[in-house]
Amino acid sequence: MKLFIDSAILSEIQEVYDFGIIDGVTTNPSLLHKAKEAMEGKVDLAGYLKKILETAKGTPVSLEVTETSEAKMVSEGKKLFKRFNPVANNVWIKIPVHTSVQEGQANTDGIRAIKQLAEVGIPVNCTLVFTPEQALLAAKAGATVVSPFAGRIDDYIRTNHDVEFKKSDYYPAMGWQDNQHTLEDNGIVSGVELVKQCKRLLDSYGLRTGVLAASLRNPRQVREAALVGADIATIPYPVITELLKHPKTVEGMKAFMKDVVPEYKKL
Ligand code: E4P
Repeated sequence: MKLFIDSAILSEIQEVYDFGIIDGVTTNPSLLHKAKEAMEGKVDLAGYLKKILETAKGTPVSLEVTETSEAKMVSEGKKLFKRFNPVANNVWIKIPVHTSVQEGQANTDGIRAIKQLAEVGIPVNCTLVFTPEQALLAAKAGATVVSPFAGRIDDYIRTNHDVEFKKSDYYPAMGWQDNQHTLEDNGIVSGVELVKQCKRLLDSYGLRTGVLAASLRNPRQVREAALVGADIATIPYPVITELLKHPKTVEGMKAFMKDVVPEYKKL
């Protein structure tokens, strides 16, 4: 499974790329907003994005559109690609699976925009995926990857069932049991299950679109996304730094360091 960093903060991106094991970057308008806030607004955004692209050279960086109609998303996607892809040849354009802001509504602008961008060879990351059927339509439109939002579907299931939680709380991949009943959203019992169903569905029909597990909130969820076959996991910086931790590793290191035979060091 490839590991992406889910961040628009350059220092975080630079730090994790230094590890030598990161395969890409995902940004979104909220992550860019957070990055801008961290710099108290003092930022030349184009120059800043170029630094992110250069840091990630050789691996993809998703830049999201901000428009909502098919025509404007296509035009913005092409503009972003034309301006920023020459920097390091690594831009993916992120398009929402649909752009309606009316509850219970969905438009086809996202799918049609994906199709148009894919047809001219622009790699598309289809974002805000919450059902396997959304993933199917995006894949048929030619998306390079689809991004099921694991953490947010867990939030949605908990909120709908009045379960109190913190965003970083682990949510069981098998679903939350409530009086011998598993909580769910239309057959999806957890974010990890959503990732699994998207992967199974796309693989079943030989669709070449990858599944990028997004909105991951803790190391166990990253593990579970890997176990259900996600092609990519995009992970926030604090979670990346958690992935290595275990108290028994610390305890073991302490013991090994204490027991080192001095002559061994001189071998
Ligand atoms: C990635 O592409 C998404 O934008 C991101 O993972 C969303 O994560 P969040 O639900 O923690 O905001």
